[in-house]
Amino acid sequence: MIDLLIRGGRVLDPARGLDRRAHVLIDGGRVRGVVAPDEAPPARAAIDAAGLWVAPGLIDMHVHLREPGGEHKETIATGAAAAVAGGFTTVAAMANTNPVNDDPELTRWIIARAEAAGLARVLPIAAVTKGLAGETLTDFAALRAAGAVAFSDDGAPIMRREIMRAALAAGRQVDAAVIAHAEDRTLAGGGIVHAGPVAERLGLPGMPGVAESAMVERDCALAAAVGARLHIAHLSTAAAVAIVRAARAAGTRVTAEAAPHHFTLDAEAVAERGALAKMNPPLRTRADVAAVCAALADGTIDVIASDHAPHHADEKALGMAAAPFGVIGLETTLPLVLELVHAGVLDAATAIAALTVGPARALGIAAGTLAPDAVADVTLIDPDVAWTIDPTAFRSRSRNTPFAGRAVRGLAVAVCLAGRVVDHHLGGRYTR
Ligand code: NCD
Ligand code: ZN
Repeated sequence: MIDLLIRGGRVLDPARGLDRRAHVLIDGGRVRGVVAPDEAPPARAAIDAAGLWVAPGLIDMHVHLREPGGEHKETIATGAAAAVAGGFTTVAAMANTNPVNDDPELTRWIIARAEAAGLARVLPIAAVTKGLAGETLTDFAALRAAGAVAFSDDGAPIMRREIMRAALAAGRQVDAAVIAHAEDRTLAGGGIVHAGPVAERLGLPGMPGVAESAMVERDCALAAAVGARLHIAHLSTAAAVAIVRAARAAGTRVTAEAAPHHFTLDAEAVAERGALAKMNPPLRTRADVAAVCAALADGTIDVIASDHAPHHADEKALGMAAAPFGVIGLETTLPLVLELVHAGVLDAATAIAALTVGPARALGIAAGTLAPDAVADVTLIDPDVAWTIDPTAFRSRSRNTPFAGRAVRGLAVAVCLAGRVVDHHLGGRYTR
């Protein structure tokens, strides 16, 4: 008798090149095997997964959970609930909280809060510099020992190149990636939308693409020189994509992520959605969107991450200039990725890889696969069900999305967390 049998789904485990109809066997909180449909052992509980995708638990390596200090926007518990609702069993939380996560004590506190919430696993990303000020490195060894999985000043760029070089060297020492928020502030010039026709039409200050690509070029060069692991957050421009592609071809240890808004929307959305479409980096041109999609398809961008950035409705109501940057994404990422699959831009395995083994490798964590003995984090996906995005139904405490009202297809119907089923839409498929 095993604990749980997930019966007859399309099992997608890109880490092992697996894509076939099979049963997934779970016992004692771990995957015991993926077996042919005629080999089902007796089980205490079963999920009929016919017509569903059965994937390793999805990983979102770029979220802002706002606790401590911004609990009116999101907490660790509400963020973890939103994660699970969106199909994510693991999220990595950025350090730009208040206070900043630049302290091992706070890193441990975040882990304890997440464990108490008991939903998605929350892996803390620690700050690279004290207070995200870009000047003094944090204690990488102590933060790593406290449980930090990576280091980032996300939200703020590290402007001084010698500081970034030292950060990469420190990351190498503790075998952790440094995650770059690539924005040259001297070039960004206080812009709030992409510098281009939309900015001109709306009379808004523009942020040129080169503010990103110049920084990506600098950081790839530094990572190559140091031999360190670099991860580029929220890649948004064709020029930066080309730099990452060349760096990878040259053997630099760089991984890169794209957020759903950057592969689905261009700057025109700002005209329609206003501050709900204000984020950093900003929505770019159609050519940039096409380049991001092509980079996802060819593996240059190996991670999809939401950059879930909750903000209160009152803050977003301040208007384009004063509203904070950021949009939420935990509960819309999967259907927006599936748009690319339905459109033939990505195949299912590539899409799932960017949500599982891609981020697992970028972070260097043992997750993102259904290999025997792996912790049984599983996401069950109905790839076809049609629905309309309705932020009022979100588990997140915030509603700031430009995707309200969008018709989409596909969602996570349930997740398993170490074999424990968190059921959202299984209905009669789940017997126990
Ligand atoms: C993020 C936030 O609100 O913390 N905002 C955003 O627009 N992406 C910070 C960041 O990821 O740069
Ligand atoms: Zn950022």
